[in-house]
Amino acid sequence: MQEVSQELLQSFRAPAYPGSLFLSFEGIEGAGKSSQLKRTTEYLEEKGYRVLVLREPGGTTFGERLRKAILETNKELHPLAEAHLFASARAQLLYEVVMKELEKGGTAIICDRYIDSSLAYQGIGRNLGFNAILQMHSLFPLNLVPHLTFYFRIDLETSYARQKMRNAPKDYFESQGGEFYKKLIAGYDKAAEIFPNRIKTIDGNRDMETVFSDVRSLLDQLIHSINTNSGQA
Ligand SMILES: Nc1ncnc2c1ncn2[C@@H]1O[C@H](COP(=O)(O)OP(=O)(O)OP(=O)(O)O)[C@@H](O)[C@H]1O
Ligand SMILES: [Mg+2]
Repeated sequence: MQEVSQELLQSFRAPAYPGSLFLSFEGIEGAGKSSQLKRTTEYLEEKGYRVLVLREPGGTTFGERLRKAILETNKELHPLAEAHLFASARAQLLYEVVMKELEKGGTAIICDRYIDSSLAYQGIGRNLGFNAILQMHSLFPLNLVPHLTFYFRIDLETSYARQKMRNAPKDYFESQGGEFYKKLIAGYDKAAEIFPNRIKTIDGNRDMETVFSDVRSLLDQLIHSINTNSGQA
């Protein structure tokens, strides 16, 4: 894997809106993102946050149209077309929703997938490399990254077993083979390595309650540090 540019890494920062949280959930299909999102939403609401869950790509009218375009395409897209499409939906989401909502204190925004999906899927899965994806996100507002990212790490076997259980028709990415999934796992692992403070790797192979107890303790730590450091994680 290519060397990641340290200069590019310096471009990224968490938004500094006092009292608000920006979170993302990552992992391959079946990792447990949606399940853990529900629990996390309830937990943060109990703590008094106004929680907004956003899915990527999507979350805006423009983004939902792009989501439909990519998930329903019956032709393989060029990796650059894919990468720019996701980045484009993300920029609009930041501009139209994320920044405006975070500005109002006491908001928790949770993104079901964010920049690390681009690093894993297009950077490694589609061989564009990390630097190309980081470069694409290095300008404001795409350089805004979550305070905390939960990476639910599961084995290929767990992913297959859960996909089978769910028995839903496969979308654009889900119809890829095992080699592709192995690349995604390697991509996420690499993302966690280059963003060690932001990305927390959680073993998602375990039962939902055990996984959530890890999520909860990380959230508690984050909230504590934000409250004592005036908004900077
Ligand atoms: N820790 C767990 N143990 C057992 N089953 C789980 C666990 N987490 C999730 N599942 C089940 O696995 C399936 C996939 O979980 P979920 O939808 O939360 O994953 P996801 O990461 O959101 O997947 P996708 O990327 O496809 O949206 C669901 O049927 C869910 O009930
Ligand atoms: Mg999901």
